[in-house]
Amino acid sequence: MRDADFSDDLVKILFTEEQISQRVDELAAEIARDYEGKDLLLVGVLKGAVMVMADLSRALDRHVTMDWMAVSSYGSGTKSSGVVRILKDLDTDIHDKHVLIVDEIIDTGLTLSWLASNLSSRHPASVEVATLLRKPEALSMPVNVKYVGWDIPNEFVVGYGLDYNERYRNMRSVATLAPHVYS
Ligand code: IMP
Ligand code: MG
Repeated sequence: MRDADFSDDLVKILFTEEQISQRVDELAAEIARDYEGKDLLLVGVLKGAVMVMADLSRALDRHVTMDWMAVSSYGSGTKSSGVVRILKDLDTDIHDKHVLIVDEIIDTGLTLSWLASNLSSRHPASVEVATLLRKPEALSMPVNVKYVGWDIPNEFVVGYGLDYNERYRNMRSVATLAPHVYS
């Protein structure tokens, strides 16, 4: 679908397909430099990170392996609580591997700090985090996020993997949602 087909539901395009593609390429260049000479395992967090994983992995001019996790975080309404359940675990043993968790957005940071410490307990060589977007609240969490596409204001956004009630994930851009959609 073209993003114009969604436009009645959107308020503002925050990042276009071109901007996202350029930023993902920049992050990939940084990552390639930092992991030079090391094996790298990308761990995508389902389902939102599918688009970032697809683009980031292809922007890396080197071998990588990829694995996926699905987690659900319990919370009241739209806020997560930090209580996390694994719905799908990794297929691979990460002992002595260099792990880069790939996510699309960090809001409170609770899900990701849980995930990072869970993976760290499996004795990998290293664990780092890459996210396309980060909201302000995450800055107060102890989780160290090495690669960030953009810091954004505390608004609900959709597109490029990000959903509202499972919809809008297949938009090419990232945009804020119109109130009539969720009220
Ligand atoms: P948190 O960082 O533990 O609060 O939760 C992050 C998760 O909440 C993300 O992986 C998304 O699934 C979801 N999320 C947070 N903010 C947004 C948003 O603005 N749009 C869509 N999903 C969001
Ligand atoms: Mg996510």
